[in-house]
Amino acid sequence: MNQITPTTKLEIIPASAPFSEAQRSWLNGFFAGLLTTDGAVPLSPEQGAAVMQGAAGDGDDGEAPWHDQTLPIADRMRLAEGRPLRRRMMAAMAQQDCGQCGYNCNDYSDAIAAKGEARLNLCVPGGKETARMLKSLYEELDKAPAAVPSAAVTPAVAVTATISAPGRSRDNPVPATFLSRRLLNKQGSEKETWHIDFDLSGCGLDYVVGDSFGIFAKNDVGLVDQVIALLGASHTTAVRGKTLREALIEDVSLSPAPDSLFELLSYLTGGAEREKARALAQGEDPDGDAATLDVMAVLQKFPKVRPHPEAFIEALEPLQPRLYSISSSHNATPGKLSLTVDCVRYVVGKRKRIGLASTFLAERINPGDEVRVYVQKAHGFALPQDPKIPIIMIGPGTGVAPFRAFLLDRKATGAPGKNWLFFGHQRSDCDFFYQDELNAMKTSGLLTRLSLAWSRDGAKKFYVQDRMREVGRELWNWLAEGANVYICGDAKRMAKDVERALVDIVAQFGARSTDEAIAFVGELKKKGRFQQDVY
Ligand SMILES: Cc1cc2nc3c(=O)[nH]c(=O)nc-3n(C[C@H](O)[C@H](O)[C@H](O)COP(=O)(O)OP(=O)(O)OC[C@H]3O[C@@H](n4cnc5c(N)ncnc54)[C@H](O)[C@@H]3O)c2cc1C
Ligand SMILES: NC(=O)c1ccc[n+]([C@@H]2O[C@H](COP(=O)([O-])OP(=O)(O)OC[C@H]3O[C@@H](n4cnc5c(N)ncnc54)[C@H](OP(=O)(O)O)[C@@H]3O)[C@@H](O)[C@H]2O)c1
Repeated sequence: MNQITPTTKLEIIPASAPFSEAQRSWLNGFFAGLLTTDGAVPLSPEQGAAVMQGAAGDGDDGEAPWHDQTLPIADRMRLAEGRPLRRRMMAAMAQQDCGQCGYNCNDYSDAIAAKGEARLNLCVPGGKETARMLKSLYEELDKAPAAVPSAAVTPAVAVTATISAPGRSRDNPVPATFLSRRLLNKQGSEKETWHIDFDLSGCGLDYVVGDSFGIFAKNDVGLVDQVIALLGASHTTAVRGKTLREALIEDVSLSPAPDSLFELLSYLTGGAEREKARALAQGEDPDGDAATLDVMAVLQKFPKVRPHPEAFIEALEPLQPRLYSISSSHNATPGKLSLTVDCVRYVVGKRKRIGLASTFLAERINPGDEVRVYVQKAHGFALPQDPKIPIIMIGPGTGVAPFRAFLLDRKATGAPGKNWLFFGHQRSDCDFFYQDELNAMKTSGLLTRLSLAWSRDGAKKFYVQDRMREVGRELWNWLAEGANVYICGDAKRMAKDVERALVDIVAQFGARSTDEAIAFVGELKKKGRFQQDVY
């Protein structure tokens, strides 16, 4: 990773590149700035801890009313107005606590505020709007007055300190062997969801159910070759000590075009094109297509501007890993790991777009290939320590993944607690993932109850929360017996709707007012009896 200090003179743009001395100097400065905010981790954990302790003690009450993944960023920032910078930085994040950045939202913002983390572009669900807001807040950092020392934020430092073990963080992946894939949907389905198996015996990684698996995928060669053709460059042009083609496959994201690419183009062109590129770099949308502009679409949109390959690569974002909930149990099948992956494919205009990692797993690796991976430890998503505690699991679609793992684990360890799974998907005849396995678990008694909801079998949508309401009385009885509740899957709509159904059930069958029912569910969360893994 690049470490830029004020005394480092960066020569990113080679003397041979087709720029004047003034242009070369400007571009070197431009990329040095980018690398300082996007790539460097300038402080050691000890230094980070020292600054971190200074960043808290700022009179904040610790409340986070913006911590709701369904709120738009403008509302979140409004709720954080008047708060210390680190809290406003937290509000800029997507609030999913999904772990993709290597932290939760609170710890990531604390680490940035303490200058222990300099990468401002790690919040995948927040995307460009989070990165832009963080950049603007970061600029306020140096102006902010020093705060009184406090120990309130040490967890972030603990995260920083533990990320270096091999295969235990995005910063230190290890190779795992891809074993096989199997399509989980049957003919007639609108979905393409794969059961994926990895062999961990070579890298020696283990995991606990509830953990996620981080994957470093590579870009599609076909897409890379189209980008190279649009650039008018040669595959073999040397960049970063490898060929341009290798760099585009392995190092940089070709998905949403970053502001830095628009900035680069604005510098290399003039007139109306420059204005347009500048506007896009500032988050404006002059032609109403900004949301659809991936890197290739940008090259098509600005056909007269052809940056030098080296400058082009440096203007792109690094490829980020993707997380997947682990759907197997190390206790049941040591050394093996499974995932349940929904393939992202869609069309914009006439062009087919593909998700990076899901299609990599679905079609671009072969049995025996090695993939760079890591285990992302779950924070607050785990089986209860007491194996007798009943569990209620709500996981439509790929949300079933960690619950398959929970069930396999409870079977392997002989946990006597009752298990209730709510699963749903589009159609019963083609989207019933793990149907034979789940039915066998039901027959054997491991799965005490299996409640299903098919959204497209009938004329009217029917979701897991509709099924929950139907069996609300029994669900309340399980809760009253001390059951834990788990939700996994879509963060934007499903998780919130399911939580609302739970509140209604508590109110109706637990004889409480709506406010009391909300407080009851809030208490379940505080006690760790209501846990979520949503994305
Ligand atoms: C903790 C955690 C656990 C997860 N577990 C799972 C899991 O078990 N299974 C699983 O399948 N996924 C899971 N995910 C999601 C997963 O990490 C990836 O986000 C997902 O696979 C997409 O990644 P990708 O690289 O294939 O697509 P990307 O290259 O990231 O593309 C996805 C982007 O494409 C765009 N897009 C997608 N569809 C459309 C559309 N129809 N129209 C326009 N734009 C669109 C959106 O901007 C979207 O963000 C999990 C995520 C987290 C954080
Ligand atoms: N970042 C990404 O690109 C990416 C990639 C994969 C998945 N995801 C997200 O992860 C989620 C999981 O995808 P998936 O393939 O596992 O399945 P999914 O698309 O979530 O669908 C699973 C089931 O949930 C239903 N559903 C839709 N809205 C719901 C709601 N508000 N409440 C309850 N159920 C609802 C669906 O019904 P209908 O479809 O019939 O309405 C379907 O029956 C997706 O929703 C998506 O947002 C994101």
